[in-house]
Amino acid sequence: MKPDFKRFVGQVAVVTGGAKGIGGACALRFAQEGANVAILDIEMTAAEENAKACRAEGVEVLVLNCNVADEISVQNAIDAVVKKWGRIDVLVASAGIYSGKPLPEVSLKQWQRLIDINLTGVFLTNRAVAPIMMKQKSGSIINVASMAGKTSFPGSAEYSASKSGVIGLTRSVAMDMAPYGVTVNALCPGNTLTDMVIKEVSVQVGKAVGMSSEEWIKMRANDAPLKRLAEPWEMAGVTAFLASQDSRYLTGQAIEVDGGIIMS
Ligand SMILES: NC(=O)c1ccc[n+]([C@@H]2O[C@H](COP(=O)([O-])OP(=O)(O)OC[C@H]3O[C@@H](n4cnc5c(N)ncnc54)[C@H](O)[C@@H]3O)[C@@H](O)[C@H]2O)c1
Repeated sequence: MKPDFKRFVGQVAVVTGGAKGIGGACALRFAQEGANVAILDIEMTAAEENAKACRAEGVEVLVLNCNVADEISVQNAIDAVVKKWGRIDVLVASAGIYSGKPLPEVSLKQWQRLIDINLTGVFLTNRAVAPIMMKQKSGSIINVASMAGKTSFPGSAEYSASKSGVIGLTRSVAMDMAPYGVTVNALCPGNTLTDMVIKEVSVQVGKAVGMSSEEWIKMRANDAPLKRLAEPWEMAGVTAFLASQDSRYLTGQAIEVDGGIIMS
């Protein structure tokens, strides 16, 4: 849903995983609200497509091929953003993957790959923008965790561990950045209609419990008190709030945006 106000004119927002899904919706939302946007992703075709939508909002967009699990790749991308605009006001760390299998089948390689992207990737991007925001004495960091970081379901060891890690990391970074006026929060989405849920989670978890992807999605919608899954733009709306002037006294929190599933 397109907002009829612009809170980030002249600001710079960096979005990892900004090609599509939740990150894609966040990139578009910041563009709609007037920010110049850097999309950091490994899927260049989708990234260019989303960049086109963002540019149509009249802002500048930088598309950077960046693997968040790679220290040098992250540093190069952040350096390129600073070279272009000289500042970073918002970081949304949304890049992530899902894998899930019964525990005895989780290989060390699978565990490490997911932790490298979902947790180390958040650490690397937070660390790379920290000196810039500390120097500015302003900024907002929003790390995309998950309701799986607060609660768990079978066959989600590495995913759930990575997201609990993001929540702990967020609290610690919030403490480090507080003296500089930088807020750091985690967004904990419930099931959101992105490729991750439609093509991966619903297929894998559905299979484990003997359901088709469609049946599993229907069941999850029914589990939520709001009786539906989320749309990506609904995550972007809360993310924008966490970067706005209205949330300057909010830091170190892990905000559940889950249609009420966890509390029910
Ligand atoms: N969709 C949900 O229901 C849901 C729920 C809770 C949390 N999340 C979290 O939200 C975030 C976004 O997920 P989504 O649902 O939008 O998934 P998605 O698959 O639609 O998008 C993920 C994006 O991350 C990018 N990406 C993957 N690995 C990367 C890497 N190494 N470096 C850079 N970019 C990389 C992908 O190319 C893609 O553009 C993830 O961290 C996910 O764990 C999603």
